[in-house]
Amino acid sequence: MVSSCRRWAYVTSVALGLLALTGGAFAIGQETCVAFKSGQSTFPIVSNRKATPILVSPDEWPGVQRAATDFASDIQQVTGIKPTLRNITTSNLQSLASLATNAIIVGTLGKSALIDEVVNRTKLDVSSIQGKWEAFLAKEVSNPLPGIKSAYVIVGADKRGTIFALYDHSEQFGVSPWYWWADAPTTKHSDIFVTSSGCSHGSPTVQYRAIFLNDEQPALQNWAMEKFTNGTGAALTGSPFNHFFYTKLFELILRLKGNHLWPAQWSSAFGVDDPQNQALADWYGIVMGTSHEEPMMRSIPVEWNLFGVGQWDYGTNQQFIYNFWVNGTERAKPYENMFTVGMRGNGQNIQLLEKVVSDQRQILMDVYNTSDVTHIPQVWTLYKEVEGYYDDGMRVPDDIALMWTDDNWGNIRRLPLPSERNRTGGAGVYYHIDYVGDPRDYKWITSSQIEKTYEQMSLAVARNAVRIWVLNVGDMKPYEMHTEFFLTLAWDADRWTPANINDFVVSWAQREFHVSQQDAVEVAALIHNVTRHNMRRKPELLNSTTYSLVNYREAETIMDEMNNMVAASTRLYNSLPVNAQAAFFEMVHHPIQATATLTNMWIAAGINNLRASQARLSANDYATQVENLFLHDAELEKNYHTLLDGKW
Ligand SMILES: *[C@@H]1O[C@H](CO)[C@@H](O)[C@H](O)[C@H]1NC(C)=O
Ligand SMILES: *[C@@H]1O[C@H](CO)[C@@H](O)[C@H](O)[C@H]1NC(C)=O
Ligand SMILES: *[C@@H]1O[C@H](CO)[C@@H](O)[C@H](O)[C@H]1NC(C)=O
Ligand SMILES: *[C@@H]1O[C@H](CO)[C@@H](O)[C@H](O)[C@H]1NC(C)=O
Ligand SMILES: *[C@@H]1O[C@H](CO)[C@@H](O)[C@H](O)[C@H]1NC(C)=O
Ligand SMILES: *[C@@H]1O[C@H](CO)[C@@H](O)[C@H](O)[C@H]1NC(C)=O
Ligand SMILES: *[C@@H]1O[C@H](CO)[C@@H](O)[C@H](O)[C@H]1NC(C)=O
Ligand SMILES: *[C@@H]1O[C@H](CO)[C@@H](O)[C@H](O)[C@H]1NC(C)=O
Repeated sequence: MVSSCRRWAYVTSVALGLLALTGGAFAIGQETCVAFKSGQSTFPIVSNRKATPILVSPDEWPGVQRAATDFASDIQQVTGIKPTLRNITTSNLQSLASLATNAIIVGTLGKSALIDEVVNRTKLDVSSIQGKWEAFLAKEVSNPLPGIKSAYVIVGADKRGTIFALYDHSEQFGVSPWYWWADAPTTKHSDIFVTSSGCSHGSPTVQYRAIFLNDEQPALQNWAMEKFTNGTGAALTGSPFNHFFYTKLFELILRLKGNHLWPAQWSSAFGVDDPQNQALADWYGIVMGTSHEEPMMRSIPVEWNLFGVGQWDYGTNQQFIYNFWVNGTERAKPYENMFTVGMRGNGQNIQLLEKVVSDQRQILMDVYNTSDVTHIPQVWTLYKEVEGYYDDGMRVPDDIALMWTDDNWGNIRRLPLPSERNRTGGAGVYYHIDYVGDPRDYKWITSSQIEKTYEQMSLAVARNAVRIWVLNVGDMKPYEMHTEFFLTLAWDADRWTPANINDFVVSWAQREFHVSQQDAVEVAALIHNVTRHNMRRKPELLNSTTYSLVNYREAETIMDEMNNMVAASTRLYNSLPVNAQAAFFEMVHHPIQATATLTNMWIAAGINNLRASQARLSANDYATQVENLFLHDAELEKNYHTLLDGKW
């Protein structure tokens, strides 16, 4: 099998050239409140080489404090001017008088004494967000604090509301959420303004919006080993997924307005590999979970193999497994989590599984010292055989989210019936764009269509399965755009319709590669075509007889399509500013070239077989073609590895 298993590498500096200004701000799936020229009612973020200072409160969430430092450096990335970021205590407001007449004031309601003070003084109406999960508003207010005439206030209803508000603005300023993970260049502007009326957002459509790293070997794991360790993984597991790796991922998830993560599992144990992993997830603002088969915040099988005693079978080894779960619960207690309940494994039956869940809730009661566990988020995933238990009558308490799943190939197997839609724990969906399992894996490059994901996940919204969505992203790197699409849909499903999902790709292309609208439309057509092609037959499942060599010129038509796509992609690549080429290679040009090479190789193999069966000498030419295409694939892989001095 030809397969470029990329080994990623890392670079310290990416030259960022100055780009032609395209005018508007690119905000995918959100309101626009940023402008690059002053207007009727605008507030300056950076104007005349001067940046407005940013004020935060020392009692603010550390995760907001951290995001505010990103916000300040994002402004610097765009304009070259770094705003000052200052803590202001309400007991020392007089010190403000000399600071500036304008300020950006950032804070979380009920947490930041500073923002509460501003709300109180300006009578700012925050009723639209108060008490609402992850909601925010931003707008200009007058006389917020002594000495400050005007401020742009960025107010979150809770910790992540404020964080999302900051990143929402950063993206519009010109910093892609993928600036590091896909090398999307920052758009340069000399000035940045925001509209006085600002941006706002209510609670997202889906409460917990997650990705799941589930195909970490070999690409992600080897790359992380090289880039984030000094050559040795964690002491007990050898895993390279330490906090240096994860904090990069936490930031990306937050910039994409996700809030939840199922960590790498195969040879890793999030809570063991690096004791800072869990603490930092919480500190950043990520709610941690574990995959559907890893109950009570402990990794299976890795942690069980390390610390478990006896069989992973609750029928025969109850006490040891119970203690094992107590340990995971105690370890996770200081942090924000979504507990996976239930169990997969040997010797299960409904009666036993119901006991498992009731024991797990007893553990939560004991560890949290509460008689009411309904406020501790819990999820039961109805994956594969587990859905069978549900169908056979197994039930869990009402406050546990029921997570329905697809069939691993993007078709949701079942959604909540009307009688299942009013559960207090709600429902959700676990969905795949990468799959490792029977009958066949697909995990190489992008092979799912956002059109399909949109159609399926819209059904989930219509059936109120919106408590939790988890996307299996394999090793993530080949699925940048699809990952963003899923999280964007989960953030605000109402914005998207069958008529405008293509606009998502067009805006994405403009934001990521700084191309014209016309070229962005072509990029969208390429993405549409390559994902349609790879979804007809996953690349791993292609073979020499997939496309007919004798009927309807099928193979020739497919080869023409492939070659046209490569030509179009090459033309776009060559037209791009140098600093956008790496991003384009990673997210468009490589998948297209690799798909074309693989497809053409199998077709050449088919022709070779056919001609050989006809005892024709020209069979040899096709054998040579297969070899050349095989080498070309290796060449593409090498190109990826050498990109940006070996970043990936
Ligand atoms: C503000 O104060 C908090 C709490 O002491 C601290 O963690 C943070 O680094 C400070 N931020 C700035 C910008 O000084
Ligand atoms: C708001 O201001 C009023 C006086 O104007 C004061 O009584 C009240 O305690 C303040 N509330 C907060 C949260 O600061
Ligand atoms: C690798 O070594 C450097 C220099 O000693 C150190 O700063 C860094 O934390 C180490 N990284 C890991 C993952 O141990
Ligand atoms: C959990 O188990 C591990 C390994 O046996 C042990 O090191 C750790 O202290 C335990 N943690 C808690 C919270 O009991
Ligand atoms: C558990 O909660 C009870 C009732 O609120 C309290 O009296 C007790 O001290 C708590 N126990 C611990 C270990 O915190
Ligand atoms: C949900 O609605 C169904 C009827 O549609 C009812 O039987 C069930 O008791 C309700 N459950 C809750 C928790 O309200
Ligand atoms: C190609 O794959 C199809 C579908 O799995 C299978 O039926 C066929 O035998 C395969 N052809 C070859 C030559 O392996
Ligand atoms: C996409 O595929 C369609 C249908 O085959 C074709 O007409 C179009 O030219 C292709 N576009 C690109 C950019 O490859």
